[in-house]
Amino acid sequence: MQSIERPADIIAKTASNDGIVKNAWYLAAWSDEVSQELLPRRIAEEPMVFYRSSDGTAAALLDRCPHRKYPLSAGKLDGDLVQCGYHGFRFDTDGTCLSVPGQVKVPLSANVRSFPLVEQFGQIWVYPGDAALADPAKIPHVPWTSEWWSTTGLSPLNARASLLIDNLLDLSHETFIHPGIGSPEVAETPIEVERDGDVLWVRRKMYGVACPPNYAKSSGLTSPIDRSQEIQFFAPGFYVLHVRVAAAGDTGPGHLSKVVYGITPETKHTTHNFYGICRDLPRDPHKRPFSGQRITVQEDKEALERLERALVADPDNVPEVSIGIDRGGLLGRRMIADLLRKEAQD
Ligand code: FES
Ligand SMILES: [Fe+2]
Repeated sequence: MQSIERPADIIAKTASNDGIVKNAWYLAAWSDEVSQELLPRRIAEEPMVFYRSSDGTAAALLDRCPHRKYPLSAGKLDGDLVQCGYHGFRFDTDGTCLSVPGQVKVPLSANVRSFPLVEQFGQIWVYPGDAALADPAKIPHVPWTSEWWSTTGLSPLNARASLLIDNLLDLSHETFIHPGIGSPEVAETPIEVERDGDVLWVRRKMYGVACPPNYAKSSGLTSPIDRSQEIQFFAPGFYVLHVRVAAAGDTGPGHLSKVVYGITPETKHTTHNFYGICRDLPRDPHKRPFSGQRITVQEDKEALERLERALVADPDNVPEVSIGIDRGGLLGRRMIADLLRKEAQD
C-alpha cells in the first residue's frame, strides 16, 4: 500500500479530459432495468442492446446488425433469439447468427459482436473493450448490505465523465452546492488521500460540527455531530462513499450509509450516472428516506452540465489552479491517465 501525502507528487497535469478507457468493466444497468424487452444503451461509445433470455440470463450485443447496420434494438425477441427488424437475421446471446432469409447457408461474417457481461448484487457490468482482456475478478466487489434499506436510480448527465469523477472525489463542493448535506466544515476540513493499486481512498473526518438538514431529518440528530466521509474509488468509474454520522463524542456505530455511483461514459461528452444509496434502517413503506439523495444528484447534474457547456463554448489551454482539496481528484485523474496510457500500449 502506498501512502500519498505530498500534493507535488500527485499533480496530474491532465485537465478534465474526455478520454474514455475501453478496457474496463463498467456498470451498464441496474438488474431491474433489463428484461425480455430490447434495451438500447451506449456504453463507452459502443452502441449495445441489452436483454434477458428466457432463463433470466442477461446478454449484451452490439446494437448494429451486420447485414445493413440496422439497430438490433429496433427488432424483437423471438424466444431467446434477437430478430433484426429490417430483414430478419436472427442471433443468439453469443451473437451467433443462426438464420438469414432466403438461404440455408449463414455467412460466418453474419455474427454480431457480443460483450462480456457479469451480473452481481443487482448490477449488470459489461466490458466494452478487448474481450480477451476481460477479467471478471477486476469488477469492483461491493455488495449491498442486504438488510439495509436501499434504492437505486439512473440520472443521464450531459457532461463528460471526468467532471462527475472530479465532483465526487472533492466533496468540499457540498458546502456550496448542496444545502441539504453541506456545512462550512466540509470545505474547511483537510482530506487524507491514499492509493491502493487501482483503488483510491479519500477520507475526511469532522468532529463537533454542524448537523446539516438532511441528516437531522433522517437520523434525528442535532448539532454538534461527528461526521466522516470515506470515499473508495475504483478507476475508471465506480465509487462508494461510506458515511457515518453520530452525536458528537458518541463512540458507538452511529448512523451509517453507503452511497454508490457507477460513472459510465456514454460518449465523450455524456455520462450515465448510476446512483444508489443504502442506509442502516429497516424498510418502512410509510417513509421516503432517499428524496434528499435525488435532490443532491439533480444539484450536481445542473452544475456539471453548466460546466460542460462552458468548457465546450470557451476552450482554452490555461492550466487549472489546484489546491489541497483537489488531491483526491488529481490522483483519480492520474489513475485514469495511467489506464489510458496502458490501453494505448496494449
Ligand atoms: S439490416 Fe438486419 S437483417 Fe438486414
Ligand atoms: Fe455533489
